[in-house]
Amino acid sequence: MVIDVADPDRSVLIEAGRIIRAGGLVAFPTETVYGLGAHALDPEATERIFAAKGRPSTDPLIVHIAAAAQARDLSSRWPDVADRLIEQFWPGPLTLVVAKSPVVPDSITANRSTVALRIPAHRVALGLLESAGVPVAAPSANRFGRISPTSADDVESELQGRYDLLLDAGATTLGVESTVLDLTGETPVLLRPGGVSADLIRSIVGDLKVLKRQTTSEADDALAPGQFLRHYSPLTPLVAVDGEAPIATDLVDALTRRGINAGYLELSQDPGTAAHDLYRVLRSGDGTAQVLLVRMVPSHGLGVAVNDRLYRASQGRVVADASDSTADMIESLVGGQGTSSTQ
Ligand code: TXA
Ligand code: MG
Repeated sequence: MVIDVADPDRSVLIEAGRIIRAGGLVAFPTETVYGLGAHALDPEATERIFAAKGRPSTDPLIVHIAAAAQARDLSSRWPDVADRLIEQFWPGPLTLVVAKSPVVPDSITANRSTVALRIPAHRVALGLLESAGVPVAAPSANRFGRISPTSADDVESELQGRYDLLLDAGATTLGVESTVLDLTGETPVLLRPGGVSADLIRSIVGDLKVLKRQTTSEADDALAPGQFLRHYSPLTPLVAVDGEAPIATDLVDALTRRGINAGYLELSQDPGTAAHDLYRVLRSGDGTAQVLLVRMVPSHGLGVAVNDRLYRASQGRVVADASDSTADMIESLVGGQGTSSTQ
């Protein structure tokens, strides 16, 4: 259902809120990406989210709320630093992980003692949350491991009707997910870079630990769930290029000479523009070639989040030169005769 972000139709929001309260699924826009929402305190409803996404139950969901007072109700310990952060960044793309209150079902937190909370900065999302009158658990509205949706069409192509209502307010503005910040320990830990940069968070909290890029080992998963290496991925193998444009174009040329259909995805080197365009560019390139190359962006501001997503979307295949051995490695990805194949 189309809904105007500047002036959302009350009757549509009321219907969406009713569906949430009744245990249904509503896909809705936020400033970051589209989410797939359900009544957070109704385990049967949230179970439907995991089923629709094909998401493992070990990966907990973010709970979306309309007002900061709800955050205190859903947590059993609300640190002072959280107040300073939300004053600055809520509503907005910052998710806070805090100790959970017993009212929060274990199914959405993957049996953890913590819960992730955020107030989104989007009129339709806020209107839905207010109309529902209950906290709304919502992951990104994509199939598990796939590219996050930044438009209603993306949601539809990912979930193919596995929801009761889809609110279409056009493309999202930010384009990458919220920053996830764990406040349960001595020092805040940045679990996922996102819409609010580490530098901005540091300016409020002082000392900040930044979680290093994870793979899929269970030990790592205990610390930060959802840090799967294969994530945000196109179906076509992706290779990220950490270097100047000619490295990428030289590689495409070298692969073309080897008879491989290699596609080059143009992504702006301006971090904000790159964040906005990232998932659309990955999605539009998917399936158009045997292998896709994309350049990483400068690592400041939103560029940190963009590079994190490119790293995962490429499953850690980051190259920095256009040498023969690099071309061999890429060739091996497409089932070619690469001499240094390790696949
Ligand atoms: O921008 C966003 O955050 C979007 C929109 C829809 O709000 N949501 C989103 O949700 O990206 P999702 O489920 O795709 O990613 C949530 C991340 C996952 O990596 C999950 O593991 C982590 O947050 N997370 C959720 N609860 C957690 C918890 N209690 N402790 C640690 N990490 C948690
Ligand atoms: Mg996601």
